Amino acid sequence: MPEAELIAAARAVRENAHAPYSRFKVGAAVRGASGRVYVGCNVENVAYPEGTCAEAGAIAAMVAAGETRLTEVAVIADSPAPVPPCGGCRQKLAEFGAPDVPVTLATTDGLTQKTNISALLPGNFSAAHMGRV
Ligand code: THU
Repeated sequence: MPEAELIAAARAVRENAHAPYSRFKVGAAVRGASGRVYVGCNVENVAYPEGTCAEAGAIAAMVAAGETRLTEVAVIADSPAPVPPCGGCRQKLAEFGAPDVPVTLATTDGLTQKTNISALLPGNFSAAHMGRV
């Protein structure tokens, strides 16, 4: 089960989340095209809009390491049901992942839900829409 590695990585990094305002810790892991796994957690700020999501952190780590394509995603939180990425993170995932890239949403209690990037953001704005620029 390849997603088990990603869920474990997301679960571990979630412990480092800085979420003193929402108290809602989130962990995310993405697999780059190289096979390497990159992790991120939410990092909140007293100026609330400056906080960043776990998915954004994992994507930033991947890009900083020199990769621009992802092939698999996992997100985990301590919630009653698997928490889906926010709208902005869906667009961020679509920037770096193909429509069929699998996304596993998980709870710390062990529930999982599988989806993919196109199901999370159907009809997404993409570079193709700037074809006449
Ligand atoms: N959050 C994430 O990091 N990822 C998600 O997919 C959903 C929400 C964070 C943002 C904020 O720090 C906290 O969860 C509550 O919204």
